[in-house]
Amino acid sequence: MGFKENFLWGGATAANQCEGAWNVDGKGISVSDICTGGKFGQSKRITPVIEEGTFYPSHEAIQHYYRFKEDIALFAEMGFKCYRFSINWTRIFPNGDEKEPNEAGLKHYEEVIDECLKYGIEPLITISHYEVPFGLTKKCNAWVSREMIDYYLNYCRAIFTRYKGKVKYWLTFNEINSSAAPMGALLNQGILNELENPTIFMEQPDIPQQRYQGLHHMFLASALAVQMAHEIDPEYKVGNMMIYSASYPMTCNPDDVVLNQRYNRMYNYYCTDVQARGAYPAYADSLLKEIGVEIVKEPGDDEILKKGTIDFITFSYYMSSCQSSDPEQKSGEGNILGGVPNPYLEASDWGWQIDPKGLRYALNDLSDRYQLPLMVVENGLGAKDTVEEDGSINDDYRIEYLRKHIEQMKLAVEDGVDLMGYTPWGCIDLVSATTGEYAKRYGMIYVRRFDDGTGDFARLKKKSFYWYQNVIRTNGEKL
Ligand code: BG6
Repeated sequence: MGFKENFLWGGATAANQCEGAWNVDGKGISVSDICTGGKFGQSKRITPVIEEGTFYPSHEAIQHYYRFKEDIALFAEMGFKCYRFSINWTRIFPNGDEKEPNEAGLKHYEEVIDECLKYGIEPLITISHYEVPFGLTKKCNAWVSREMIDYYLNYCRAIFTRYKGKVKYWLTFNEINSSAAPMGALLNQGILNELENPTIFMEQPDIPQQRYQGLHHMFLASALAVQMAHEIDPEYKVGNMMIYSASYPMTCNPDDVVLNQRYNRMYNYYCTDVQARGAYPAYADSLLKEIGVEIVKEPGDDEILKKGTIDFITFSYYMSSCQSSDPEQKSGEGNILGGVPNPYLEASDWGWQIDPKGLRYALNDLSDRYQLPLMVVENGLGAKDTVEEDGSINDDYRIEYLRKHIEQMKLAVEDGVDLMGYTPWGCIDLVSATTGEYAKRYGMIYVRRFDDGTGDFARLKKKSFYWYQNVIRTNGEKL
């Protein structure tokens, strides 16, 4: 027993966090481009108007737009079989509502895809990864509005037809369930209610009705995109992408257990239930009622959802947390989807609790629930790295994190899980999505770029580069 022979070992990035070139070759502004830098404990700001002299990390990111050939060559040297990246929607449709796509954008990703194929690397493309065109936010508050479905499908048609025969795997939305929490409103859905004044990223007023109505539109868009992809190329496989936030009852107090069940439904299952099963789950109505949400549906929507179920499930896995009915127990700092820290686990410097066994649990849970092939498309440790005088970067802590998670993936495979592949996050250092900083590094490749805007973007191989190379070479036997 072990990983399949054609297991998709690789790494993952997102355009807004690595490309830079934010206003080049016809690219429009995305929601990430209006977010300033921030750091742990100091939230980034959202500025609807770009401010002169303010630092926006996505504007230059790590210059992957210009250096993708060098980066993909490094991925190939590590032995990647797969590269997960996103197409920045605003390179293809700068404002989002144009009729015709921007040729320069289409050409760029064609070159990226060709570069991957040159090395036998399978592209795995995220269609929308926190890159909603800001033009659509201004026009209709993005996914709040049903008209987004058409804009999204135009975009899908442009890329599905252009890359036919070169790409096999697509993901409709990155971490779609981030919108079960307030954090997903802007990044995932392009929702911004204050278009005049800057706001603090983590302090925007939250309107759950908008997020859940937006999710309904995204479910429809995803289901229609699945059908469109299959019509354009029957070889296409389309997956979802969710955050799996492993969650445990803090104690065996039935109140904690019931609370944990509610958490799982709201954060871990709600979206994938719809995308994988093609219908809202039975608990949806009561859950939504509890938070004062009523979804507006049109006739035919249920049919669309039923016909557009995904081919495989992908998810990010970083951490776990607990649910407690004790009001004294406070939610942990780093928990994206909320939750109380687990006393049995240690946390990263950013407060994300490290729980490799939670990954085996996640894989088994999703496999039992949906009986679909699974892929772990994000996992990794955000940490500070030090470059030694001789240029080496000894990131043993990252190796330790990845090793333990891969061990648990292997056990899950032995448990019977159909696991397609593994693309750890930020295989090359990039900008953090939640805090907007460079200092939180995930890569096996170091990028010399810092939060004060200095650095020459040089790439350096970390110790984990060589370690991961050996993991891939031995198909996960040598950890
Ligand atoms: C996921 C996102 O939330 O986790 C990525 O899909 C993100 O975009 C990653 O970068 C890690 O989060 P962060 O905030 O540490 O960058």
